[in-house]
Amino acid sequence: MSLLVAERIGVSFGGVRAVQDLSFAVEAGEVFSIVGPNGAGKTTIFNLISRFYDVDGGRLLFDGADITRLPRHGVAERGIARTFQNTELFERETVLNNLLIGCHVYRRTGLVQDLLFLPAVRRQELAFRRTAEDVIDLLDLQHYRDQVIANLPYGIRKMVEVARALCLKPRLLLLDEPSSGLNPEETEDLAFWIEDINEELGITVIMVEHDMNLVARASDRVMALADGALLTIGAPEEVRRHPDVLRAYLGD
Ligand SMILES: Nc1ncnc2c1ncn2[C@@H]1O[C@H](COP(=O)(O)OP(=O)(O)O)[C@@H](O)[C@H]1O
Ligand SMILES: [Mg+2]
Repeated sequence: MSLLVAERIGVSFGGVRAVQDLSFAVEAGEVFSIVGPNGAGKTTIFNLISRFYDVDGGRLLFDGADITRLPRHGVAERGIARTFQNTELFERETVLNNLLIGCHVYRRTGLVQDLLFLPAVRRQELAFRRTAEDVIDLLDLQHYRDQVIANLPYGIRKMVEVARALCLKPRLLLLDEPSSGLNPEETEDLAFWIEDINEELGITVIMVEHDMNLVARASDRVMALADGALLTIGAPEEVRRHPDVLRAYLGD
């Protein structure tokens, strides 16, 4: 059974069909990349999966369960985490606090318990802290742990976003243009992180990415889109050479 299945999903904004009649399946353990020109609908797919937008039609299945109408936090609780094309972190908070805030999507205790600060809440806080510290170690962010986001270079912020997503202990991680704004060396590092996240943590990754070298290097399969519609799905080299893909990028 595929981990994520999109069945004929679509969404329009005004007259624009941002995603149309799109079907694809992502297998557990894959790194699956989505490529296409600007405005092709790549980020919109992430917004549909993570339930920031409602589909106009079609279905989304995660691990066999229909998530099409789940609320956003429901999708997160089931194990889908994302990063944003432009990082969305709390600028005035430290790296550690950003991760702890990320962890709170998983909290099981309610407001009254929080107010009383019952032992269960305290245990949970300690568990979050451990998770956050583990992720900081994993992604080599120790040096930045107590620094405020606003003072950090862009490349580090991008990694903090990945770290925050990992604090949810996702089964599926959605990365939106992780290499944008990174220099070649940082992009090289990123390729290794993606490999580690995928192979060592066993997390399935869907990545929207424009750097074709990173895509070719990191992905098992690639899906190419143009104008919200599927062009092709296949191995990175096949997709790169596909006539419809070349045409979409060259604009005929
Ligand atoms: N919330 C929105 N409101 C209006 N139009 C949107 C919205 N989100 C996306 N679009 C439109 O949908 C199309 C696809 O956008 P997007 O998914 O961001 O493209 P990509 O990530 O591939 O560059 C674009 O034409 C964009 O303007
Ligand atoms: Mg985008």
